[in-house]
Amino acid sequence: MKTEAPNPNTIVWFQNRFIRLGEANVNILTHALHYGAGVFEGIRGYYDRQARDLFLFRLLDHYQRWKQNCGILRIAVPPSAEELCEITAELCRRNDFQTNVYVRPIAYKASARIGVAADDNDAYSIIAIPFGSYFENTKGLKAGVVSWRRIDDTMIPGRAKICGSYVNSVLAGDEARHNGHDEAIFLNQDGHVAEGATCNIFMLRKGKLITPPATDNILEGITRASVMELARNELGMDVVERSIDRSELYVCDEVFFVGTAVEVAPIVEVDHRPVGKGEMGPVTEKIRSLYGDAARGRIPAYRHWLWPVYKDALIAQPA
Ligand SMILES: Cc1ncc(COP(=O)(O)O)c(C=O)c1O
Repeated sequence: MKTEAPNPNTIVWFQNRFIRLGEANVNILTHALHYGAGVFEGIRGYYDRQARDLFLFRLLDHYQRWKQNCGILRIAVPPSAEELCEITAELCRRNDFQTNVYVRPIAYKASARIGVAADDNDAYSIIAIPFGSYFENTKGLKAGVVSWRRIDDTMIPGRAKICGSYVNSVLAGDEARHNGHDEAIFLNQDGHVAEGATCNIFMLRKGKLITPPATDNILEGITRASVMELARNELGMDVVERSIDRSELYVCDEVFFVGTAVEVAPIVEVDHRPVGKGEMGPVTEKIRSLYGDAARGRIPAYRHWLWPVYKDALIAQPA
């Protein structure tokens, strides 16, 4: 997938103020650029034309995770998670977005000097841009297990979106595409299925929805948690967190990726072997549709997942 370069006039939150993207630049010696010491997030917002509102999906959960994970690298983000939600909603309003968006908060070690030792010079920024589908092919992906293993918690914690650790994902995606697949599947150091390059994975086997546990070197995805809740509550499914063997992917009924960017993406082929009938399975289809509806505010029981951008503005305006 390839996204367009964002408009340089897009308003971003940088150094505690709203400025234009084209002016939000960092020094070439910035610590995070050289050593990868940053932590980012990825959040989607869905614009609903009928409601004339932009709904940011699980915004507070994303900021709570971000602040916790910044703590792993001891990067300080002074505002509370709630304050970060307010800043993000205001950022979307200033850009007057009436389209689906992707929000990218990033916190990083900001010192501009040579040396790996990190100090307390921390900075953060929030960027929001219009965003469409991550994969061009939405009917079904061909995935392949790559030779690169998912980084282990003893090396770089994969549960945090640490900038430097994404080299692991870049190498995996590159290998998968060169081998004729659309996307990569990582095994972890134990040889079990971990996840995709930028997404978690689920398999349907013997009527159960199965996903690797948080301790199998996965990123503890918010979409994964949402899908587990939807499958249990709305479809009455048995959802199990357990290690998955590579060869189980060859004999199971359905496989799909989930993640903020990829949403719910069916996998129709693993390592050049068809998954099930070689097309999107019925459970994947139901989950994809439930997730899409929940993220757009169409299921009242999950409206608490959404942060409305423009309703706040209307409420804030004097009558
Ligand atoms: C490596 C990796 N795994 C899984 C995910 C999915 O996480 P989430 O659903 O919180 O976006 C991501 C997210 O973007 C990711 O980068």
